[in-house]
Amino acid sequence: MLKDYEVAVTKAQKLPGRMFFLEFEAPGLAKKCEPGEFVMLKVEPGTDPFLRRAFSVFYTEPKRGKLAILGKSYGFGTTRLREKKAGDRLKMAGPLGNRFGQAKKKETALLVAGGVGLAPLYFYQQVLAAERRKETYLFLGTRTKAEALALKRLMPQTVNLQIATDDGSYGYEGRVTDLLEKWLEKNRSGQVLRLLSCGPDPMMAKTVELAGKFDLPIEVSLETAMACGWGICIGCAVKSVPDEKTASEFPKTPDGFIFQRACVDGPVFNGHRVVWESDGPA
Ligand SMILES: Cc1cc2nc3c(=O)[nH]c(=O)nc-3n(C[C@H](O)[C@H](O)[C@H](O)COP(=O)(O)OP(=O)(O)OC[C@H]3O[C@@H](n4cnc5c(N)ncnc54)[C@H](O)[C@@H]3O)c2cc1C
Ligand code: FES
Repeated sequence: MLKDYEVAVTKAQKLPGRMFFLEFEAPGLAKKCEPGEFVMLKVEPGTDPFLRRAFSVFYTEPKRGKLAILGKSYGFGTTRLREKKAGDRLKMAGPLGNRFGQAKKKETALLVAGGVGLAPLYFYQQVLAAERRKETYLFLGTRTKAEALALKRLMPQTVNLQIATDDGSYGYEGRVTDLLEKWLEKNRSGQVLRLLSCGPDPMMAKTVELAGKFDLPIEVSLETAMACGWGICIGCAVKSVPDEKTASEFPKTPDGFIFQRACVDGPVFNGHRVVWESDGPA
């Protein structure tokens, strides 16, 4: 159940490429959060900014009562968060949203992350690792070597990590989706594969296209702009093609689509059902 907690920053790091890492003492949430779920952070104690900001959970350590997020500063809220220091206290509501589907036996999950889109996918991989399951490959795309190494240092136990950098300064030179396509061309046959993706919209749209090409299921974690975060404002509508289940749950538009709320019906969606327009969800 959604609750509001007061949490304290225990570690704060500025990372290259305007990224940041924050770890919190948040024992209540650390016990509850599952991969794919998100939290809403109140950036400052007063009313400026008024709205909270959404963050996927990067990892939890329930025994130590820790919860971490990975961020990138774009505007007012995230720029303020990047300046937080150990000891700062914030309000954090959660857990919110749905989670990635459970991994099936004998299934290999291919996790495709762009930048801080890494957060929910790393959490997913950590949960599988704790269950002693290692059938995951993590494909991470960043712009530069400095960004790639900074993120790599935050996840020392990650297995099967493949990195692509846009400038070719580290790992594969080019887009992470090109790296994924090459991997699929070589390894697709004879394996039960599933794709999970989070990152910039054009990257997720391309990953969905590859899932179609290789006939694979795919879940995407959308970072649609949100106001309330718990289903009230309808500000986070995502246009999608209904399936058997959703067709009976949501009213259809005249042209046969449905609108779902990213905060309560997502943020994890079947990527094949999302209507991608101009390389992002409609
Ligand atoms: C479910 C969910 C999970 C999320 N998880 C994470 C996460 O793990 N890490 C993280 O860094 N962010 C995450 N986000 C995005 C994060 O919530 C936004 O970046 C943040 O709300 C922006 O707040 P701001 O005040 O800095 O920017 P605003 O002042 O609200 O926006 C400033 C400008 O930046 C643009 N902008 C804002 N956010 C983004 C973005 N993500 N990409 C591109 N342009 C953007 C806006 O369109 C606007 O033009 C998530 C969003 C959702 C809905
Ligand atoms: S953010 Fe308000 S309904 Fe989703």
